Amino acid sequence: SPKVTKICCIGAGYVGGPTCAVIALKCPHIKVTIVDLNKARIDAWNSPDFKLPIYEPGLDEVVRQARGRNLFFSTDVDKAIEEAELIFVSVNTPTKKSGVRYVERATRNIANIATSSKIVVEKSTVPCRTAESMRTILEANSKPNCRFDILSNPEFLAEGTAIQDLFKPDRVLIGSLQTPEGIRACEALSEVYANWVPKDRILTVGLWSSELSKLAANAMLAQRISSINALSAICESTGANIDEVAHAIGYDTRIGPKFLKASVGFGGSCFQKDILNLVYLSESCHLPEVAAYWRQVVEMNEYQKRRFSKRVVDTLFNTITGKRIAVLGFAFKADTGDTRESAAITLIKDFLSERALVNVFDPQVEHSQIWMDLQEASPLVPLDHIKKHVTIASSALEACKGVDAIVIATEWKEFKELDWEQLYKTMNKPAFLFDGRLLVDAQKLTQIGFKLIGTAIAASLATATLLVSHNTLSKRQRRKHLEEDIK
Ligand code: NAI
Repeated sequence: SPKVTKICCIGAGYVGGPTCAVIALKCPHIKVTIVDLNKARIDAWNSPDFKLPIYEPGLDEVVRQARGRNLFFSTDVDKAIEEAELIFVSVNTPTKKSGVRYVERATRNIANIATSSKIVVEKSTVPCRTAESMRTILEANSKPNCRFDILSNPEFLAEGTAIQDLFKPDRVLIGSLQTPEGIRACEALSEVYANWVPKDRILTVGLWSSELSKLAANAMLAQRISSINALSAICESTGANIDEVAHAIGYDTRIGPKFLKASVGFGGSCFQKDILNLVYLSESCHLPEVAAYWRQVVEMNEYQKRRFSKRVVDTLFNTITGKRIAVLGFAFKADTGDTRESAAITLIKDFLSERALVNVFDPQVEHSQIWMDLQEASPLVPLDHIKKHVTIASSALEACKGVDAIVIATEWKEFKELDWEQLYKTMNKPAFLFDGRLLVDAQKLTQIGFKLIGTAIAASLATATLLVSHNTLSKRQRRKHLEEDIK
C-alpha cells in the first residue's frame, strides 16, 4: 500500500483539531495540515500564546510539541488539498436532511482542486451511505489519472477526555469498499494509526457498517442515559435511590458500571443529532417501529429536562417569579467549553419563562457564548431583556450569593469542592440545592442545612410536590417538531 506522507484535515473543530494534532504528534514523519474556512478559528490555533479555540485537557501540550514541526493550521484549503495524499473530512454535520451540505461542499472542493489521486476519509458522523454520494461527486468531477478512494473512519472520542481517548482508543474503525483498491486505501490509513495504536484495536469493516456503527454507538450510549433517567423518575416517586440502583445493576457484568449516572439529561452536539439521523434512516427504510423506538430516547431526554425545571418550580412553593436561582455550569459536560445542546440552556430558558432571575457561572464557557446560546434559545425575547434577568458571575460563590436555589447543571469537579458552608450562609433559606448531576456529597450538604433535591434523601419531600402531568397533545406537538427538524 502507498505510504502516506502528507495529510490534510478539512475542519478545525472539536474533532478535526485534536484528532489530527495527535496524528501529527505520533507520526513526526507525516506533514499534517488542518484547514478551515473560519479564519478566527485558524488564528486561534496559531496563536503564539496557545490560546486555542477549544478547551480540552492536554490539548495545548500536544499542539505545543507538534505545531510548526509537522503540524500546521491554515485557511488555504485548496493548497492543503492539492498537496495531501490523504484527506480527512471533519466538518460539522448539523441535524436536518441537508446536514451533510458541509460534507458535500468539502467533497466538491476536493474534486475541483485535486490533480493527483487521493484517499478521502469521512471523519464526520454522517448518515449511512454518505460515502456513496461522496464517491459519485468525486468521480463525476475528477480529472484524468486522478483516482479517489473513500474510507469511513468515524471518531469515537468524547469531549473532555479527547486526548486520552485519542492516545489510547478502545478501537479505531475503518470502513472501505471490499475491492482491492478499497482494501489498499484502508491499509494505508491503518498504517498511520499503527504508529501508536495496537494492531488488534484497528478494526476494518465495510463502508456501510462503519458509518452505521458510529450512529449505533451513540444511540446505544444515549439509550443508557435515557434508561437510567427513566428509572430516576420512578425512584423519585417511590423513594428508591437512583445512585444505589445504578450501583447495584452496574455490578452485573453484562450491564457494566459506566454511563449509568442519572442526570438532568444528556447534551452535546452529537447524541440527539445522531439518533435523529438513525430515526430518519429507519423511516426511509420503512421501519416505523424502529424509528419510534430510537425517537423515544430523545423524547425521554426532553422529558427529563422538563421534569427537572418543573421540579424546581414546584419545590420553590409553586412559583419562581422574581426569585433568584444560581445555575452552576453552562457547558454540556465537565472539562469542555462546548455548550451545544447543553441542558443548562433549556433550564435557564425555562426559568426565564417563569420570570425568575438567574445567576450563571461556568469555569470555561465564554460570556459571549452564553449570551449567544440564550438568545438562540429564546429568539423572540430581546437580548436586552435576557440581560436584565441573567447575570454571569465570575465565581460560584458570587453566583450563589443571596439566591433562593442553586442548580448544578454541569458536573465540574470544582463544584464538588466548593466551600459549601460559606455558600450556605450567603443564601436565602430554605436553601434549596438541585443537583442535576448527582455530584455533591448529599449527606454532608444536608447536614450543613441544604434542602437537597436530586437524591433519595429528599425523595419524600419531592414525592409530595411531584406532579408529573402527561400532556399527550404537547407530546404530539413535540414529536412533530422533532420530525420537522430532521426533514
Ligand atoms: P465543529 O463545528 O467544531 O467543527 C467543524 C469545522 O468545519 C468548523 O470550524 C467549520 O468552519 C469547518 N468547515 C465546515 N465546512 C468547511 C469547508 N467546506 N471547508 C473548510 N472547513 C469547513 O464540529 P465538530 O464537533 O468537530 O464535529 C465534526 C464532525 O465530527 C461532526 O460530524 C460530528 O458529528 C462528528 N463528531 C463529533 C464529536 C464531538 O465530540 N464533537 C465526536 C465524534 C464525532
